[in-house]
Amino acid sequence: MSDIVFLNGEFVPLEKARIPVLDRGFIFGEGVYEVIPAYSRHPFRQPEHLRRLQRSLDAIRLANPMTDAEWTRLIHDLIARNVGEDQSIYLQVTRGAAKRDHAFPKDAKPTVFMMSSPLATPTREMVERGAAAVSATDYRWLRCDVKVTSLLANCLLRQHALDAGVEEVVLFRDGYLTEGSACNVLVVRNGTLLAPPKNHLVLPGITCDVVLELAAAKSVPVEVREITQDEVLSADELWLTSSAKEVLAITTLDGRPVGSGKPGAVFKAIHQAFQEFKRKVMRQAA
Ligand code: PDD
Repeated sequence: MSDIVFLNGEFVPLEKARIPVLDRGFIFGEGVYEVIPAYSRHPFRQPEHLRRLQRSLDAIRLANPMTDAEWTRLIHDLIARNVGEDQSIYLQVTRGAAKRDHAFPKDAKPTVFMMSSPLATPTREMVERGAAAVSATDYRWLRCDVKVTSLLANCLLRQHALDAGVEEVVLFRDGYLTEGSACNVLVVRNGTLLAPPKNHLVLPGITCDVVLELAAAKSVPVEVREITQDEVLSADELWLTSSAKEVLAITTLDGRPVGSGKPGAVFKAIHQAFQEFKRKVMRQAA
């Protein structure tokens, strides 16, 4: 069975989907996107993802081409048309095709694209081992809070990690932690969970919010504040969060063990809480 994608009002097989080469998503990387995990065919935290999509569209001054009810119907339709109980739903809106000119075109129609891929959450072995990461300088632009499709810096940084034989980068700007190339990064020190402030330097992660809620529910002290590079390098635990990776421990940084070099006690409690929470939400949705 071929992958079915949604493009500008139609569901079509992936290999039949075509966009004009003058699409501003292709020419300028001018678009926004979301990645929504679906467990047992139920989208997880969809209202929050649609809210962030609206925020991204507002930031690039592009009108939302659909209502939330229309997005919801399409997301469910896309999930139903694709195989796999757990899917990763990608949706993207660009400013559409127009003669190449940096200024916004007067009458371009936004391009709306959606696809589904298998949701590959970390295996049990990965959860028990944790991920390896290297530190890097965050040289991205100053609107990292907007989920834009122009991800060149993120791609270069991810490749930097892979070339170093590790999975992710932990990014620092002016001596402070920001995030990873495709994830948020959290720190545990002396039993307190630290998260960088939600400002223009990090993407407001939906998974990160879930993890902070679960930590608060488990009475883990949470502090949202600027975190220095020294605090990260001497952390007891480091975690990454994203819709694809859920919550995963970073157990080595720059070749040195983080804490004991194994996923820590706070991580284990929150990872378990995350799995239980997911199951509860899916039972309620069923
Ligand atoms: N990335 N920070 C960055 C730079 C990201 O790209 C992502 C997600 C996150 C985590 O956000 P969330 O928890 O809402 O997934 C943080 C997605 C998965 C991607 O680009 O594929």
